[in-house]
Amino acid sequence: MNYLTIVRRILRNLTTKRQKTYVSMSARWDNIRWFLRQGHVIAHIWDRIKWYGCPALFITPRYPCHIELEASAACQMKCPMCGQGKMYEQGLKMGNMDFDLFKKIVDEVHRDVYSIKLSWRGEPSLNPHLHDMIRYAKLERKMKSVAFLTNFERYDEAMVDDLLTTGVDYVSISFDGLGDTYERIRHPAKFDEVVKMIRYFVQQRDKLKLERPVIRVQTIYSAIKDNYQEYVDLWDPIVDRVNFIADQYRVDHNENAYDLDPDYMCGVVFNRMAIGWDGKVTQCYSDYGERTMVADVSKQSVHSAWHSDGIKALRRSMMEGTRLENHEPCRTCDHGAKGDTGEWITIKGRELPVRIHAGKKIKPEEMNAKENRWKKNRPPKPAGAAE
Ligand SMILES: C[S@@+](CC[C@H](N)C(=O)[O-])C[C@H]1O[C@@H](n2cnc3c(N)ncnc32)[C@H](O)[C@@H]1O
Repeated sequence: MNYLTIVRRILRNLTTKRQKTYVSMSARWDNIRWFLRQGHVIAHIWDRIKWYGCPALFITPRYPCHIELEASAACQMKCPMCGQGKMYEQGLKMGNMDFDLFKKIVDEVHRDVYSIKLSWRGEPSLNPHLHDMIRYAKLERKMKSVAFLTNFERYDEAMVDDLLTTGVDYVSISFDGLGDTYERIRHPAKFDEVVKMIRYFVQQRDKLKLERPVIRVQTIYSAIKDNYQEYVDLWDPIVDRVNFIADQYRVDHNENAYDLDPDYMCGVVFNRMAIGWDGKVTQCYSDYGERTMVADVSKQSVHSAWHSDGIKALRRSMMEGTRLENHEPCRTCDHGAKGDTGEWITIKGRELPVRIHAGKKIKPEEMNAKENRWKKNRPPKPAGAAE
């Protein structure tokens, strides 16, 4: 690539809007408070500058800003939209991360990586060492941001009390739908029991006057599209933030699912990586099904994995605009999809764009494709909606 092409690509990259598959239902101030309550404000702002700046300028930092560090790939649920069950059926081994491997990774990255999340594909609370892992990263290694996503089904009062001693910065609880819908998707969880335990979690945190963890509840939008207001009414008074996310096709790898922009420059290989429960590293964190294994941090350093030939090749393809030719997982990923089938909903007087499917192919009868390009990053407003 000559310099002119690189400059042209960087300029295009700077004006590319990256797809956002989640929308916060919380009021603006709640979102700001969410940011502030996580602490380390200056370091966090610097992290955000790197997070957006490195992909935009094709800079590979020494270490990623963020690592998904999978405490467990196993799960007690088989949610219909989730790829985890499919991976299990395909014979992938789905175990718990060994505590010594976790320590080795944290010992290497604690100064250079801003945040780790102890979840990726499975349910982290199935790892009996989860809370000790958080304690190690937060209290011994003083990492800035340690968090995890969980279905919270296994938590009882004793586990919640223990979690509150770990120093965890935020917990995101996946709670898809309400009532029967929730119990169908999140079987074997019981709606009333999990709601009760989340209430207890927040109450105990507040009783102990702890700033952290901040607590978020998140649902796929398709599970609450007919009763989203009820969902927000339930959760908004309890937790610090409520998120709706769009469904991605994670179960079937269908190359025709998305209308992909071949020229799209995906940022994720410049700012984050995922390390599986056994130390294996895929080319990209979106490769949940381990189609591209490029490194193994049980045998090598995180630094060498981040700078491995496999991840470098993907970064080069982003610069050259050849990701769809060269990388099969990119062809089945919603990042870089042009269209969506979003709609507007009004929450607390704010109009918010939500969508059922992440980057679904545009059907001409569903919308005016020109008005609905990702560059605008928003679905068309309904007639009469305020500007
Ligand atoms: C795979 S789960 C793993 C962590 C944990 N077991 C949990 O339930 O949060 C991580 C997140 O992915 C979301 N998820 C699963 N399948 C999805 C899909 N097809 N599209 C979008 N999000 C999905 C879940 O709702 C959850 O919030």
